[in-house]
Amino acid sequence: MSDDTWHQDAVIYQLHVKTFCDSNGDGIGDFRGLIGKLDYLQRLGVTCLWLLPFYESPLCDDGYDISHYERIHPDYGTMADVEAFLQEAHRRELRVITELVINHTSDQHPWFQAARHAPAGSAKRDFYVWSDTPARYAEARIIFSDAEDSNWTWDPVAGAYYWHRFFRHQPDLNFDNPHVRQAVLKVMRFWLDKGVDGLRLDAIAHLYERDGTSCDNLPETHALLKWMRTDMNGRYDKRVLLAEANQPPEELRAYFGDGDECHMAFHFPLVARLLAAFADADRTPIVEILERSTNLPGGCQWALFLRNHDDVSLSSLGARENDRLMAVYAPEERMRLHGGINRRLAPLLAHDPRRIEMAHALLLSLPGTPVIYYGDEIGMSDRLDLADRDGLRTPMQWNDSPGGGFTSGRPIIPLNDDPEWGVNGTNVARAVATPSSLLNRVTSMLTARRGHTAFGRGSLTFVETGDRAVLSFVRAHDNDAVLVVVNLSDRTAALELPLPGYAACHIAGCASGVDVRPAAEHGLTVALPAYGWSWSRLR
Ligand code: NOJ
Ligand code: CA
Repeated sequence: MSDDTWHQDAVIYQLHVKTFCDSNGDGIGDFRGLIGKLDYLQRLGVTCLWLLPFYESPLCDDGYDISHYERIHPDYGTMADVEAFLQEAHRRELRVITELVINHTSDQHPWFQAARHAPAGSAKRDFYVWSDTPARYAEARIIFSDAEDSNWTWDPVAGAYYWHRFFRHQPDLNFDNPHVRQAVLKVMRFWLDKGVDGLRLDAIAHLYERDGTSCDNLPETHALLKWMRTDMNGRYDKRVLLAEANQPPEELRAYFGDGDECHMAFHFPLVARLLAAFADADRTPIVEILERSTNLPGGCQWALFLRNHDDVSLSSLGARENDRLMAVYAPEERMRLHGGINRRLAPLLAHDPRRIEMAHALLLSLPGTPVIYYGDEIGMSDRLDLADRDGLRTPMQWNDSPGGGFTSGRPIIPLNDDPEWGVNGTNVARAVATPSSLLNRVTSMLTARRGHTAFGRGSLTFVETGDRAVLSFVRAHDNDAVLVVVNLSDRTAALELPLPGYAACHIAGCASGVDVRPAAEHGLTVALPAYGWSWSRLR
């Protein structure tokens, strides 16, 4: 674990302690349970775990509403359990990324309680953003517009409105106050001192407010990030910052700064383009967005994902495309939330194992650090009957025992009970025992990926395939060059790639088999089944 740029070769696995494994039968996942599952994660071949918030919280936004930054929610264990988890993860060479949620706190946080009682204009009151009128900063978008109709809420105790970009129980901190800046720096150091390897910066686009702006991506926000990064660099080795900002690539690009802000940023616009490409069997949107996503500063990298714990927004595609694809992927009202699609990966791809495998082959070969959402590696589905985003966050499905191997008690969030995609039909034990399972396929992709630095660090060159349904590109790093060919369509594809003089040596490919071979002076011929994919080494 000596490499300063470990994040470039990493494969991240995202999980919620609460829904992964319960060790004491209270129905709530905990750190002890997670420790017991580290062998599973190591066998899968991921190299880094990203944990959703596990701090003290009234849990009105599943922990993104923090009431104490340096305490653990008692349901998940103790600080000693967290320390034991970090030690056990590191012993297995698994790195750990945790959440730094600094845009807002819970309204139960002592800072907010003190602020509302403190005199107007005092440093304590000014921990948050107050106004006498809800008309200020009217250009700022309301993010959860199906739940809130204003970014301001009246507080009768303070006799003023307070600002919040998310739910009204999540007041935004005021970064113009130097005491706030020092307080969040202290939180950052607290967790880095504990030994976490990276921090996901939640909602990082919205830190400052300025009249006449969208209040997103402001220069002040970038200055603050540079200040945090400088502090981190001065005190710690090999730690990384990961930006969560749902913004266009040009705005996202700014979160890398000149290599002096974040090491990684989630590529939100790519997710919408992947879904568009999958729906239409057309590579064009993927190529277009990646051509807008190049030239990152050294050591910086995209974080790529197919799905996460939130609804997926297609709004970056524009209103018409958004509406068209919403009808494809979320035809029923109950599949929609906060303007996006409240579904997991497997149901989005109609539970078609070929399509889900193909999506993983892309996730693991496009330029960036892949992030796998827990359960997607076994094709877990969602529940449409649960509130907010809980349907995407049901307990991990380990086996078909009562409690699904997740708990011996009554699960805090009900398990998925669909006969096929729920815990009885879809679980880790069954997947392990089935050679052709998605889990085994993903595991072997990860094994193959480890032998090639080009996947993590390589350049990207698209290869013309003459067929919009087939995406092909070469990833090259040092002497390693990997050719990727992916068929997005349900028809077989036979094509010639203009790579004269190259030979291709098979690394991995779809279960039903592929054929990549040299074709005299023309280049390589490729034959792919429906949704087929192939990775080969180019010589
Ligand atoms: C982004 C998180 O991913 C989401 O789950 C949360 O609701 C908002 N930030 C507010 O913290
Ligand atoms: Ca428990």
